[in-house]
Amino acid sequence: MDSDLDRIFEVTGESENAKCTDDPDAPRFKAISIGKSVVFSDYAITLRIDEFFGRHATIFGNTGSGNSCTVASIIQSLFSKPDTYAAHGASFVLLDNGKYRQSFAKLGFNIKRSYWRLPSGDSSDIASAEDKGETRHGFRLPHWFVSVEEWELLLRASERTQQPVLRTALGLSTLFTDESNVDLAQLQNHILASCILYIMQSDQGSPTKTDRILSVLATFSTKKLSSATIKPGIAISFDQMKDAGGVNALLSKHIKEAITVPDYANKPFPFDNLDAALDLALLYEEAHGNRQIREYCSQLRIRFKWILECDKFSFLRIDPKIILDYEKDADRFIERFLGLERNGDWLQKTSQITILHLNEAGDQIVEVASAIIARLVFERLRRADPRNRLPINIVLEEAYRYVAERPAGYAIEAGKIFERIAKEGRKYGMFLLIGSQSPSALSRTVLSQCSHFVLHRIQNPDDLSHIR
Ligand SMILES: Nc1ncnc2c1ncn2[C@@H]1O[C@H](COP(=O)(O)OP(=O)(O)OP(=O)(O)O)[C@@H](O)[C@H]1O
Ligand SMILES: [Mg+2]
Repeated sequence: MDSDLDRIFEVTGESENAKCTDDPDAPRFKAISIGKSVVFSDYAITLRIDEFFGRHATIFGNTGSGNSCTVASIIQSLFSKPDTYAAHGASFVLLDNGKYRQSFAKLGFNIKRSYWRLPSGDSSDIASAEDKGETRHGFRLPHWFVSVEEWELLLRASERTQQPVLRTALGLSTLFTDESNVDLAQLQNHILASCILYIMQSDQGSPTKTDRILSVLATFSTKKLSSATIKPGIAISFDQMKDAGGVNALLSKHIKEAITVPDYANKPFPFDNLDAALDLALLYEEAHGNRQIREYCSQLRIRFKWILECDKFSFLRIDPKIILDYEKDADRFIERFLGLERNGDWLQKTSQITILHLNEAGDQIVEVASAIIARLVFERLRRADPRNRLPINIVLEEAYRYVAERPAGYAIEAGKIFERIAKEGRKYGMFLLIGSQSPSALSRTVLSQCSHFVLHRIQNPDDLSHIR
């Protein structure tokens, strides 16, 4: 009887040990059991592992119907096989609302887990300090890994006027962190000189000009143009600059024709430098005759200042002077997050379950953290060689927070990257496991790419028709 059902549900050979391709001696399970059937008493419901985890999947049901339990139970069964059968290749990243950590604590401690949480006063970590399978980390995401497009969304930069200024500013913040390069030095001098010349030629009073120039030089300076070289000439005596002519001549020497500001290079820079860089970018624009630009960009700067001061965003504002090696490079950063360690050319898996704890985080933070992390993982996997070498399943619990049909757009539209992953992720070994109470509120683009549906009780007619 059961064997007939097995054949109907195409799960014959659950316990059959197929041969592993990597290691011909290691046995490998083809399917896992996830519970007992209600209809056929005592019949075990099984999932075929390769098929289920090799596509995007969803788990839906009314609140309290057991979505989270099912996700936990699927992952538990996958990892709770005896060591010879353990899923050594599988990697899960869970964007968690606080439930999963405990449910994996009972897995054998050969299944390594890393647990990341945003800095907060909460000390509930201590409870599981004994857990040997888990390593705990404070989660921080250096702001230089934020892409230009993400900065634009984060700062709500308007397309026509603010985005170009923001891009220049990001380029400048990168430019002024590298002092060794000769070409760069010329470029830095050119930009500083044109901005300072612009201030010199404006119709403000000399004392005001001097103050403005000194404030620019306080953040951005080069060997040739710094307060040491310029201050004596612009010092005020009897309301006039001491040697305006000399300073003008010095600055003019550094003006070059046809210059382009370099692109933003995701290199470490101090967060507040970006504000000064915005100022410099505005000066540079003004120096080129765009007189109203400062007014047009005032909103952008207000929003930047808010992020600069907002406590919640402290995980993003990292001081480049006190960073660890892996925080200099996006690939190494995300590899560490995923529990991959470089061993020569080879990547070694040191943990299989990564939990990013987002329970206390506000919607803005959830959006920013999840979107950037997902993009970094996606980019990393796209470059994995050979392709599909490091398959990763991302679990989105309470998925409306990440892939809503009508995104709230608090800070960054996280939905965009998840839609991209839904469409292209499979090719690179990146899969979504989406849990939600209300499927009709989720992005249709994402749902249309899901191949597996685990459905609990659902009552809402919209949700029912959506699923149908
Ligand atoms: N298969 C099951 N058998 C018995 N009880 C279950 C089962 N699955 C879940 N439960 C119980 O139902 C309750 C709700 O489960 P769970 O938290 O997984 O639901 P959910 O759909 O994720 O709800 P939420 O909307 O809060 O996210 C829990 O107390 C859990 O112990
Ligand atoms: Mg739940």
